[in-house]
Amino acid sequence: MTAVVGVLVPAAGQGLRLGAGPPKALRELAGEPVLVHAVRGLRSCPSVGPVVVAAPAADVEAVRALLAPYDVVVVAGGAERQDSVRAALAALPSEVELVLVHDAARCLTPVEVVERVVAALRSGAAAVVPVLPVADTVKQVADDRVVRTVDRAVLRSVQTPQGFQRGVLEQAHAGAAPGGTDDAGLVEAMGTPVVCVRGADEAFKVTRPLDLLLAEALLAMTAPVHARHGGGRHAG
Ligand code: CTP
Ligand code: MG
Repeated sequence: MTAVVGVLVPAAGQGLRLGAGPPKALRELAGEPVLVHAVRGLRSCPSVGPVVVAAPAADVEAVRALLAPYDVVVVAGGAERQDSVRAALAALPSEVELVLVHDAARCLTPVEVVERVVAALRSGAAAVVPVLPVADTVKQVADDRVVRTVDRAVLRSVQTPQGFQRGVLEQAHAGAAPGGTDDAGLVEAMGTPVVCVRGADEAFKVTRPLDLLLAEALLAMTAPVHARHGGGRHAG
């Protein structure tokens, strides 16, 4: 039988780098919250089964109502992203064998990226990350002085969804020291190989105010024609 794929969606962050306003997952893009765009995107992926969202603790009921059409479980997230992932993992249905962890903030991630990660897991990878080449020159610095220029050819920017065999992610989180690493970082620390697949520019993380403009522009390009001509989201 085909292994069931579940997705954990950390969405409990405050979005401090966006500036004052509601938590990032609840900020609106083209009239709908970031989190609704993210969950709708996941629901359009053929391989995605159960979805568990970690929402800001104060907004759990509001997020449940918002996501009622999408058949998801909503739990309260924690202080750090790692705490939110762990809370969602604890609520993952038992039939799920392959787990994706996907930032709500990467709300315009194309279906193909999700499916590439799943395909690598189905081929037997223990852990998978979508990556892109690094565009900027990267330098190591100390006290505003350049120490050296890093060879960009060996570097990759890492996106989500990151994918894992369920047991691998559970083991990684069970043994994790509190810290800022991503989920694949926890798996790397156990000595487990992590495989790369191709990411996508559209899977960028909404982080700073400029990212809101970029996301709005992308949504305007892909909106159905009736919505683009002033109908809004209830048109048609
Ligand atoms: N996240 C979470 N729980 C936290 C912190 C972050 O679930 N305690 C989620 C965010 O909601 C986001 C993803 O992890 O979907 C990536 O985090 P990031 O982009 O850093 O979002 P924020 O932490 O909200 O933003 P900032 O760091 O600017 O405050
Ligand atoms: Mg953060």
